[in-house]
Amino acid sequence: MAKPPYQIWKKLSTKVIKQRIQECLHRNIDFKAQSILGIPVSSLDENVFSQDERLLESSVFLQTMVDNPNHIGCHTLGESEPFFSGTQELEREAVEIVACDILGGKLGEQDGYIAAGGTEANLQAMWIFRNYFRKESEADNSQIAILCSSDSHYSMAKGANLLDLRLIQVTVDDSTREIKKAELEERIKQAQQEGIRCFIVVSNLMTTMFGSVDDVDLYAECLTAAGAEFKIHIDAAYGGFIYPFSSTDNRITFANPNITSFTLDAHKLLQAPFGTGMFVIRKNWMQYATTDKAQYVQGMDSTLSGSRSGANAIAVWMILVTYGPHGWYEKILLLNHRTEWLSNQLSELGIKHYRHSASNIVTIRASQLAQPVIERYFLVPDSHVAPAWYKIVVMNHVTVDVLELFIEELKSRT
Ligand SMILES: Cc1ncc(COP(=O)(O)O)c(C=O)c1O
Repeated sequence: MAKPPYQIWKKLSTKVIKQRIQECLHRNIDFKAQSILGIPVSSLDENVFSQDERLLESSVFLQTMVDNPNHIGCHTLGESEPFFSGTQELEREAVEIVACDILGGKLGEQDGYIAAGGTEANLQAMWIFRNYFRKESEADNSQIAILCSSDSHYSMAKGANLLDLRLIQVTVDDSTREIKKAELEERIKQAQQEGIRCFIVVSNLMTTMFGSVDDVDLYAECLTAAGAEFKIHIDAAYGGFIYPFSSTDNRITFANPNITSFTLDAHKLLQAPFGTGMFVIRKNWMQYATTDKAQYVQGMDSTLSGSRSGANAIAVWMILVTYGPHGWYEKILLLNHRTEWLSNQLSELGIKHYRHSASNIVTIRASQLAQPVIERYFLVPDSHVAPAWYKIVVMNHVTVDVLELFIEELKSRT
């Protein structure tokens, strides 16, 4: 995963990126030059959004926003709306880069799309697997459960509620944030006794609060030993653009046959505009979410979204090809260097914290921090009601200079 030789991911110059996007935009329909009568879509309103040619010429992304392509549907499946086929090509490429050169899949063997965010991508996975178990295993909702850790994002609780499924959350060790095997085995056994036959596992590739990584093999081992049916989705909304570059672990990739799908979020570490979650799944699974009632959409719709911004998809593609694999690797290396610096400083001060060695999150026990420091540095708690931990996320703007101010302040208070 994220190791050379890369199959399709290449760094491109600004000039080539611009030419490629313009060429794709030209292959979309042109609201001004053609007589387009049948669709409720147009370019952005010129009375509100500047369409000054010099401005648009200077930013191909603004140009794409103004053109306003709608990428409704899933474009790795074959047939799609022809109106925006030019820019759909760039979305397909972004999905393929992520599926193959980040997540270790084989060319042409995955489907995917740019979702509203990590929440939608997780919901899409749970929806697909619920429908799969209902169809192929003739299970009803009371026999299907979502299984994840207590550190999982709250989108799993949303999914359980929306899809009318039971949610089983296994607690993790308070210090290591690792799933407790004995408890996992016990919860599976108990669920089976209560009639659950099928498990939708959502395994974390970096949790929201800790940046911790679940042992995906542990889920597979325990569920196989219990004779249960299961499918594994990886919630890599946070870690998908980090872990493959900061770790040598290659179990959490498409090379692992137990893993069927992934969520990633480009609007987190990739610094893409909001509305750029990613859902990637092996071929022949999207059909479990195909709504054949979407008769007016060519190619039907297999996504939760419905209409969605083509400009967002292009933003993801632009970032990936602007950096290329080596540039992105260097960026993650730098963020992890800063995180390590912070973690070492905290250890020297004897401040208790958690950090996964591959992540850029440092989570400090609340008891170690004074309220004014928490407020001055906008630290985020695990719970606003009863905070036990506060996190620091080492993003692009979080330089060692900023971290040093924080450390100096901690020192002055001890
Ligand atoms: C691990 C994880 N999964 C899912 C999500 C949900 O992502 P979004 O807010 O983009 O819907 C988040 C957001 O923080 C996350 O950290």
